[in-house]
Amino acid sequence: MARVFVTRRLPFDALDRLREVHEVDEWPGDMPPSAEEMQAGVAEADGLLSLVTDRVDAAVIDAAPKLRAIANMAVGTDNIDLEAAAERNIPVGNTPDVLTDATADLAFALLLALARRIVPGAAMVRDGEWRTWEPAGDLGADLAGATLGVIGWGRIGQAVARRAEGFGMQVIHSSRSSGVPLDDLLARADFVSVHTPLTPETRHLIDTDVLARMKPTALLINTARGGVVDQDALREALHAGQIAGAALDVTDPEPLPAGHPLLDAPNLLVVPHVGSATVRTRAKMAAMAVENLLAGLDGRPMPHPVT
Ligand code: DGY
Repeated sequence: MARVFVTRRLPFDALDRLREVHEVDEWPGDMPPSAEEMQAGVAEADGLLSLVTDRVDAAVIDAAPKLRAIANMAVGTDNIDLEAAAERNIPVGNTPDVLTDATADLAFALLLALARRIVPGAAMVRDGEWRTWEPAGDLGADLAGATLGVIGWGRIGQAVARRAEGFGMQVIHSSRSSGVPLDDLLARADFVSVHTPLTPETRHLIDTDVLARMKPTALLINTARGGVVDQDALREALHAGQIAGAALDVTDPEPLPAGHPLLDAPNLLVVPHVGSATVRTRAKMAAMAVENLLAGLDGRPMPHPVT
């Protein structure tokens, strides 16, 4: 029987499978463990089940001399120092595929909300400020015939593209290995949706220069990672009217502290990293993380390894 540190209470059946064979130590807090708490939590652990909110850095791995399997309940692994894990030959697993549709749905929900000004419209009605139907009031953007530019062409980017095609949009994409050059995408897209993992190469990919090359009527959607967008540049671009709006499911940091300057920007919609937040998707993510952990602790290859 191995000992597993799970960094948050996970109310999913999957944990029962883990408990049947291993000793499970669930972090009791509603908030993620701090760096010190993480290090204390893994001190005796053979396995770690982590979330996107946990930094599993070299210090955490060093603090876990017995650690032999890490399962991240996320497809992204930018919260984990993969090199430090590899140096110790600790396998790392993630949860690809199962959250593709939920995340693509959310990207599309944000796109529609921005295009049709849903949030300001609802606020106007709630605040009693809606006076009458106006011929030229609250006008948004059409989707049919518009061009969606997808940056990053993995599973989620392609799932967003399929949704866009159903709405009669033209889709172009730009990635390291396929599609059109980024400049071309920026010049043509009415909507730009970001779907790249966060790596040293993609950090602040969406910077002042990129934002300046988007159409002034274009809308930006980011459901990938906050660090892919330079938020200072975004704030300036929104204030200057360089782009028409942005919707973010992810920010850097998360959450943005109250009063963060980005939150004052016009035509900005920020939601709390809910791309994968559906009942079925989160249950599947937990199940995959547990499968990865069970395999890793048994010395078998993880079914969903991070390579
Ligand atoms: C992931 O899996 O990487 C998501 O961001 C979590 O919802």
